[in-house]
Amino acid sequence: MKETVRNDGRFETAPNRGRPSAGIAASGFVLVWAVASLVHPLAHQVSDHAEAPLFPGAEITPSVSRIFSRACINCHSEKTQWPWYSQVAPASWFVESDVKRARKRMNVSRWDGLNAAGKRLLLTSIATVIENREMPPRRYSILHPEATLSADECVEVIEWTRAERRRLREAQVAPPAK
Ligand code: HEC
Repeated sequence: MKETVRNDGRFETAPNRGRPSAGIAASGFVLVWAVASLVHPLAHQVSDHAEAPLFPGAEITPSVSRIFSRACINCHSEKTQWPWYSQVAPASWFVESDVKRARKRMNVSRWDGLNAAGKRLLLTSIATVIENREMPPRRYSILHPEATLSADECVEVIEWTRAERRRLREAQVAPPAK
């Protein structure tokens, strides 16, 4: 305390000297941030399936398809509409990694590329994540409240997964007569 009083002069000039370097630090931070935002390790992949319908090959009602459009396809299809924050690091890296992992597990733009067993497995998986309210992920529905499913919509999706599973099973057991 005593020292502060004695070194009065020096301490008074200190903040003035500090200001320019704070300015340089801040602009340096902005620059690093701007450059970091240009770095897209996972890239906003250009898709040749962006126009593909959802669940090609499946029998799906327009109503269920609309639920998927609203709540799931930003991550699980190639119809991703990248939100503004997906352009800005570090959010961009999390979003890109999310979409990449999500598409790897289930890409409903390429549903027709799965065999019947793969489709049935994913249909069961969809019912489970909806039932347990695991999807859409919480971090997503906070930013996209419109993606939250109502109780009725959950039932509708789960019933559709059952119907589609049954349809696939029956098609396998009794292939259409030649
Ligand atoms: C924010 C992106 C995002 C959204 C939106 C989203 N998911 Fe996911 N989903 C993921 C990620 C990431 C994974 C992989 C999780 C992991 O790696 O453990 C996943 C995994 C899954 C799986 C597991 C697939 C498997 O391998 O069994 C299912 C099923 C699924 N999601 C269904 C849905 C459904 C249905 C919706 C819409 C109601 C939805 N998801 C919305 C990101 C998302």
